[in-house]
Amino acid sequence: MPRLIIPLFGLLLLFPVAATGGPEPGSITLDLTRPGARIPSSLYGVFFEEISHAGDGGLYAEMVQNRGFEESRVPPVCRVVNGELVPPRTEHYATGRVSNWTMPFPDKGPWPSWSIETTGGSVAKASLVTESPLSEAQPHSLKLEITKAGAAGRAAAINEGYWGIAVRKGERYRLRFFTRTQGLAGPITATIEGSDGAVLARSTFKAKAGSGWREYRSTLTASSTEPKGRLALSFGGTGTVWLDFVSLFPERTFKRRENGLREDLARMVADLKPAFIRWPGGCFTEGVCVGTEPDWKTSLGPVEQRPGTYSVWGYWSTDGFGYHEFLQYCEDIGAAAMYVASTGLSCEFRSGTYRPDSDLPAIIQNNLDAIEYAIGPTSSRWGALRAKYGHPTPFPLKYLEIGNEQHGPLYLSRYRAIAAAVKAKYPQIQVILNMGIIGLDRRAIREAASVDLADEHSYRGAGWALRNWDYFDRYPREPGYKLYVGEWATNGGVGRGNFNATLSDAVYMLGMERNADLVSLSSYAPLLENVNRADWNVNLIHYDAARSYGRASYHLLKLFADNRPDVNLPTHVSAPTSQSGERLAGSIGLGTWNTAAEYRDLRVESGGKTVYAPDFSHGAEGWTPRESEWEAKAGVYRQKEERVGWTYFRPETWSDVTISLKARKLSGREGFMVVFHHQGEPPDPETTATWNIGGWNNTQHAIQLNGDMIGAPVPGRIDTGRWYDIRIEARGQRVRCFLDGKQIHDVDLGPSQTVFALGGRDEKSGETVLKVVNARAQAAPLALRITGGAAPSRAETLTLSSPDLNAENSFAEPERIVPVRGSADLTRSYSFPANSITVLRWR
Ligand code: AHR
Repeated sequence: MPRLIIPLFGLLLLFPVAATGGPEPGSITLDLTRPGARIPSSLYGVFFEEISHAGDGGLYAEMVQNRGFEESRVPPVCRVVNGELVPPRTEHYATGRVSNWTMPFPDKGPWPSWSIETTGGSVAKASLVTESPLSEAQPHSLKLEITKAGAAGRAAAINEGYWGIAVRKGERYRLRFFTRTQGLAGPITATIEGSDGAVLARSTFKAKAGSGWREYRSTLTASSTEPKGRLALSFGGTGTVWLDFVSLFPERTFKRRENGLREDLARMVADLKPAFIRWPGGCFTEGVCVGTEPDWKTSLGPVEQRPGTYSVWGYWSTDGFGYHEFLQYCEDIGAAAMYVASTGLSCEFRSGTYRPDSDLPAIIQNNLDAIEYAIGPTSSRWGALRAKYGHPTPFPLKYLEIGNEQHGPLYLSRYRAIAAAVKAKYPQIQVILNMGIIGLDRRAIREAASVDLADEHSYRGAGWALRNWDYFDRYPREPGYKLYVGEWATNGGVGRGNFNATLSDAVYMLGMERNADLVSLSSYAPLLENVNRADWNVNLIHYDAARSYGRASYHLLKLFADNRPDVNLPTHVSAPTSQSGERLAGSIGLGTWNTAAEYRDLRVESGGKTVYAPDFSHGAEGWTPRESEWEAKAGVYRQKEERVGWTYFRPETWSDVTISLKARKLSGREGFMVVFHHQGEPPDPETTATWNIGGWNNTQHAIQLNGDMIGAPVPGRIDTGRWYDIRIEARGQRVRCFLDGKQIHDVDLGPSQTVFALGGRDEKSGETVLKVVNARAQAAPLALRITGGAAPSRAETLTLSSPDLNAENSFAEPERIVPVRGSADLTRSYSFPANSITVLRWR
């Protein structure tokens, strides 16, 4: 779009936005004569991973946290050293060296989520023991030695649930637990209690004597609603009791299944009408290191006998939402199942351990068994087990993804072997290849031989989708495979997810839909977040024990799934380009990447005036270093270590800045990083604009916004020991960068297009569907033109919009941003609201 149109459109905004008598508005032209790509019904699926308590404490309806007393268990094959989990020190499969990667394993005490209460003179000693376990798979139990039973008090084990046990008045809850006892005199009382201690439900059991494990069950009915209750098991009299596997489920689970799913969350996911569910990960699939990876086989059968999985997300999964439950859920909501198989390699960016090739036959067999469990006849070994667990008919397993985010020769050899075995026995199963983290790896696709789908992951910063609207258009079309965008989200520079993210998400989805001849599956990530424990910054559905809501992007995904046409129609937008009035505004920072460097003569000018010029003679007032130590002395601000580190000046609202300074590299791998725009305190490195000078191992310079590179990088390096002159001029959204007086970049950080549209035909209803994203801060009046047919006079509309880009839904306002129904008069130009996503439908 030519820049000339900007002032013209600026004029237009002086008139009422829906005016017809003013200057010519923009237009959207839909071409009915040349239908484009067909949009497969598989396009929109979901991705489930046990992260941020997506399953335990989320979708899986269990209400007791650490029900088996296993949460403090050190995962197999690992050690804990100084609070860090250390995997076996074996060779990394990609580098050939031993990785020194560790992850935190904080001491949460012996029985996290449980507390022992002794009141009214009761005396009891608690310990975590492994003697005579209920199940070898879950070896720990809680031992309580009660030496004094106070008449007015109790000795009790109390579980806080997943940050509360939420019950609703009149609802029934199924309790189950096991004990062994030795001389326990009194009864066992189970109570659901409010946060104030009020008893909301009670069940009393006569303690079953004997040294063997005994099971107790009952159903409790809540007398009132409580969002943050707890469960207490109190033991009357003296004696010793061993307690294990304490479980509480709402009777009302999704589809009333036992060991089932939380109704609200399962319904929210179902409402996305996912074509498929990808399970169980993500990084979860790879394990902390080999030897800890999940195994679908141990996620079957009695829940108290499942060992669980410890993942890189730092907590034990009970695997209660196991392979069978996953397949059942797929069937229940009409989704195809996608199982992600371990290839015997752990995460390349973490431990990088691998199973030897001699394990490959067993790995292959395990995957064939997984398929047999899902779809094999009941006469087969694993099909028979499926029948035993209550499901003789096959489950809807359709896809097998081989590994997660892996690439390289070893991965490819595993892929080829697994894919060949799967295809030979189950040609109907679609196999999915990984391609590392971001981008299309055509070489991997070529070398992998048989590929039905190649999985690309795409986490992007705010605005990336707008600047890369043609991203998938540029992909080569090659026969043999389709693209699966297995994990995608706008998650940089959008806080914890705001409406700005939703606008970018919408454009990204339009890009996929428009290229549906190539992109045939996609799934947003991550899907679920228990707000009490977020392992990832931006997630789709938020909840605590009692409540849930979808972010605006959830409503977007639902909107697009509900309005997925069968075939695209070529759509052309002629609309204004710039987000007029918007400009970069914020503060500054300095950084280094594996490098020691020093800076001096810093000056910030804004609006022609010097607004900041520190002398760095005795300290750096107003600066806050992060992950590095900075020293300001004798006019120089220095970071002496070869580290990745930053220092940020206090929040400011400077705009139209010229930043000048001198910089010298002391030692290390790269050059300098000058942040010329950051907001917030503390600044999120993802939300900054940075000039990275001598980055990428000292090979090039580039501007980065929200973590993404903007414009083309320029080859260049930084020499050690030499002072460089740096100047950055940021005017509006145009940024020019100079090194030693020579211009290196001239880049517009604003998107070149801000209105996006895609039309299509819904063959079943005979309707035309048009989706329009207006990512401008102003309304966009656009006329609809139709090639090869009559223009409609009216359309039904659903509009998702927010004047405030930082706005989001929340527990307080769960429906602040939801689609609003309306209609559009198309006999004249229609005004698409500022910051909006509109779906129009007409017959
Ligand atoms: O979605 C969160 C994580 O992102 C996934 O586990 C992993 O596959 C990706 O890196």
